[in-house]
Amino acid sequence: MCGIVGFTGLRHAAPVLLDGLKKLEYRGYDSAGLAVMNDGVLSVKKVSGRIANLCEITKDGNTMPGEVGIGHTRWATHGAPTEENAHPHLSNDGKFAIVHNGIIENYIKLREELTERGYHFDSETDTEVIVHLLEMYYKGDMRKTLIKVVNRLKGSYALGVICADEPGKIFAAREASPLIIGLGLDENYFASDVTALVSNTRNVIYMDDGDFAELTSDSVVIFDGTARPVEKKSSRINWDVQAAEKGGFDHFMLKEIMEQPAAVKATTAPRIRKGRIDFEEIDISAAELAGIRKIVITACGSAYYAGCAGRYALEKLTGIPVETELASELRYSDPLIDEHTLVIVISQSGETADTIAAMKECRAKGAKVLAIVNVVGSTVAKLADYTVYTWAGPEIAVATTKGYTTQVTVLYMLSMFFAEKLGRISGKEYDRLMVMITRLPRHIQQAIDMNPRVTELAKKYHKSKALFFIGRNTDYAVALEGALKMKEISYLHAEAYAAGELKHGTIALIEEHTPVIALCCNRKIMEKTLSNIVEVKARGAEVLALTFRDNQKILSEADDLLFMPKVDEIFSAVIEILPLQLLAYHVAKENGCDIDKPKNLAKSVTVE
Ligand code: G6P
Repeated sequence: MCGIVGFTGLRHAAPVLLDGLKKLEYRGYDSAGLAVMNDGVLSVKKVSGRIANLCEITKDGNTMPGEVGIGHTRWATHGAPTEENAHPHLSNDGKFAIVHNGIIENYIKLREELTERGYHFDSETDTEVIVHLLEMYYKGDMRKTLIKVVNRLKGSYALGVICADEPGKIFAAREASPLIIGLGLDENYFASDVTALVSNTRNVIYMDDGDFAELTSDSVVIFDGTARPVEKKSSRINWDVQAAEKGGFDHFMLKEIMEQPAAVKATTAPRIRKGRIDFEEIDISAAELAGIRKIVITACGSAYYAGCAGRYALEKLTGIPVETELASELRYSDPLIDEHTLVIVISQSGETADTIAAMKECRAKGAKVLAIVNVVGSTVAKLADYTVYTWAGPEIAVATTKGYTTQVTVLYMLSMFFAEKLGRISGKEYDRLMVMITRLPRHIQQAIDMNPRVTELAKKYHKSKALFFIGRNTDYAVALEGALKMKEISYLHAEAYAAGELKHGTIALIEEHTPVIALCCNRKIMEKTLSNIVEVKARGAEVLALTFRDNQKILSEADDLLFMPKVDEIFSAVIEILPLQLLAYHVAKENGCDIDKPKNLAKSVTVE
């Protein structure tokens, strides 16, 4: 986690760095700091807590003169979120300041070695070893020094460095943590994510693992581990600044919920040509596809639940067995995966450590990996054999919404694309499903239109001790994500249960007025879920049912109802999740929670 920024130019650096850090705060928000160089002298300011505190003590950066600097926002791993542990860290001679995103795995050994050599440590972080190594190896050539230092490191890093002996310059290095160079006019930048750059420039260079960078106001040199310059193509960011701003909404989460019809359209439209789904990015032949014996979907958090929701369509339409496995489990399970397995990896950020590790494990076993990812140029996108971007635009709220729906949408489209290639879907069925795919944005909008009713329901449920989400099959998959949304941002205890499993334990927890949110959008098994509704009602539960208006039996049993647009269960998850996202949002709002930055969480989990 953590976000880093760097600036070199002809204007005051600190306000630019603070502006960038605010955009990266979703990556970590327990402490922050800046280091600025002015006339060859480094000054550092650090705070525990939010970037707002850093703005306050530096008067929005105005008390820190200098045109070169680096900044950091932290999600603590090694050491508590105190001022001492906040970055930047300074070398003992005051010559170097560094910011770091990642984990240095061999820091204990390095710390012992450096302590023996007389360096003293001011923090408990793994990062601090890097700055002392810089001091130890520096003999006047920063490029060589940086290479020497990273050769001593094991782990992951996006590193930003300034050195008092190198006026006008910022240095960076990347290994397994995101880092992007921004190219400006008379100024250049680096940041962990393009969102921190777009207010200054749209021209960027995505750094690769093993790359180093030396930036001045008018030059950018990327070099490799032998100090040789490497040619890199620049890319243009094609979304505008407003995409990463709240735009009048109280929270990014609400804005992103509301953006889902457009986001799903951005996912689907470019891949629909003449009534057919075409993934140009998947260069896989029908023969290769026919050789696939199973598909394994792996991911973390909501991305994993997106996999759970999409697997039904994938299995049903392709006829290929589909397994879902949490990336954190798969990576250590010595899975039965070989060259006849297609692994689908899902990740909004493309930087989740467990997901990347699982993906590497699967590739090592000979499987081809298809990645469904939102962030362009991210590690997952780079490592995959086939990369399908969701094109959801920047997602800032820690709790994902449009990230999830666009991931599920890609799985639906892949199901049809593969089924057609394999000749396992009739023309009539294909056309029927195609109509449903093109109508998804409209149906999502209809689900969003329930917002006023959901707002009222949140007032009823927000004081609950615990909420249970039940459903079967595709409805169960949605229940998992609905419950996760609720706990992530409202801190209420929320559990999802396969409705049929209730009687094997959880029903013991149902008391008078316990809310049970029953998902009943799968017509084939609605009757079965109805019997579970009756069981929990008999024990005093308050039931909120999501179903169709014509479902008379459920209408008479449930206490509250939310009516869903009429859709076939095969593609219903992306619509059904909307009222649950809204419910979590409004419950959290009622309870005064910090919705975009929930406690203890971070959006991009780059640690194991
Ligand atoms: C974190 C986020 C979740 C996300 C998960 C996986 O826990 O808070 O919203 O689903 O990471 O992230 P990814 O970027 O791989 O989708």
